[in-house]
Amino acid sequence: MTKLVIQRNDNTSSWYDTFHIKEKKGMTVLDALFHIQEKVDGSLCFRYSCRGAVCGSCAMLINRVPRLACKTQISTIKKEIINESNSNDVLLKNKEMDEFKEEILIEPLPLPNSNIIKDLVVDLEPFFDLVYSIKPWIDEGRHDNTDPNTLIEPAMHEKIDQFTNCILCSLCHSICPAFKHDEQYMGPATLAKAWRYYLDPRNDQESKNGLLNTINTENGVWGCDVVYKCVGICPKKVPPTKGILNLRDVIKK
Ligand code: FES
Repeated sequence: MTKLVIQRNDNTSSWYDTFHIKEKKGMTVLDALFHIQEKVDGSLCFRYSCRGAVCGSCAMLINRVPRLACKTQISTIKKEIINESNSNDVLLKNKEMDEFKEEILIEPLPLPNSNIIKDLVVDLEPFFDLVYSIKPWIDEGRHDNTDPNTLIEPAMHEKIDQFTNCILCSLCHSICPAFKHDEQYMGPATLAKAWRYYLDPRNDQESKNGLLNTINTENGVWGCDVVYKCVGICPKKVPPTKGILNLRDVIKK
């Protein structure tokens, strides 16, 4: 049996409930949450959509590490617990974790400036407000689809692609230390998107200049502490810090 300790939240309070489930081969944390919701406690709330690490909805803290529940197998977490004493991961060595030894601890993602709506569901509006602040789209009115000069060359496509892979799961946002000294920081996901749209040749120079103006601030590209935590946590291997440093170089020129 696997023991899951889940943080529950409602409008007024927060507490932990314990559930025991029979683990099946290949079972993910999201599968375990479904099992609990369907068979044990129908009031358990969590967010999901694709179940295949594509939509980014199921982001949560699993043993104090931000992860996608649909991409995290129960067996992987159990192995981590066994190896914990040999681990250098400060998150796993967190002293508070001692009381949860041999258990899987599931908590809502700690997003800056966001409230918990219920149980594991966090308000994502503040996060998406930041993303939309850089206007992450190609302005159709300014872009001529028939102009062959705006076709994307394979080399440029490859450069853009690694940033396009961002699924806006907000894991990087939750782990970024820059929010500790600036709550208004735009965050790694927003700035990675900014670099993706700056690179895109379908965006005209005026749009690119507007984009640079928006992120050339203390709470924009200059707010990053360059500690690469976002790069390490991204489930899609997007390197936000690289995008931020590239944007700084463009601004300095
Ligand atoms: S449910 Fe879509 S990423 Fe997990």
